[in-house]
Amino acid sequence: MKIAIGSDHGGFNYKTLIKQSLIERGYEVVDVGTDDILSCDYPVYAKKVATMVADSQVEKGILVCGTGIGMSIVANKFRGVRAALCSDEFSAQATREHNNSNVLCLGERVLDKEKMLKIVDIWLNTSFSNDERHIRRINMIEE
Ligand code: RB5
Repeated sequence: MKIAIGSDHGGFNYKTLIKQSLIERGYEVVDVGTDDILSCDYPVYAKKVATMVADSQVEKGILVCGTGIGMSIVANKFRGVRAALCSDEFSAQATREHNNSNVLCLGERVLDKEKMLKIVDIWLNTSFSNDERHIRRINMIEE
């Protein structure tokens, strides 16, 4: 699976950890930046990842900023993107099963490292339920 990842300065350290973990597990990773902890603007990186997901250049995206909130606000403005801000394992599973979310947003200043990696793992390994009612609701979003 090909995954795009991006962060601002507030999410750079976790993006680096996620990238290492994904590569170790055989994912193809496209890192759109940022490349250091110098202050930068999260909409730039959210747009890059969201565009790649919307254009089907990658199957999924992961975005990290300080809270994950700014990234999720921006990513959800792109047609076809369903970005989910997750701070717990239950939400990571539920948003894949119910919303078929294709972008995961995380907050480096919110989550500890172990929990963050667990959320990534659950989100990547949970399939959409394909339940009729969830498909109907997703179609309503698209409309
Ligand atoms: C940067 O200081 C911070 O505002 C950003 O990382 C993010 O939390 C925005 O939602």
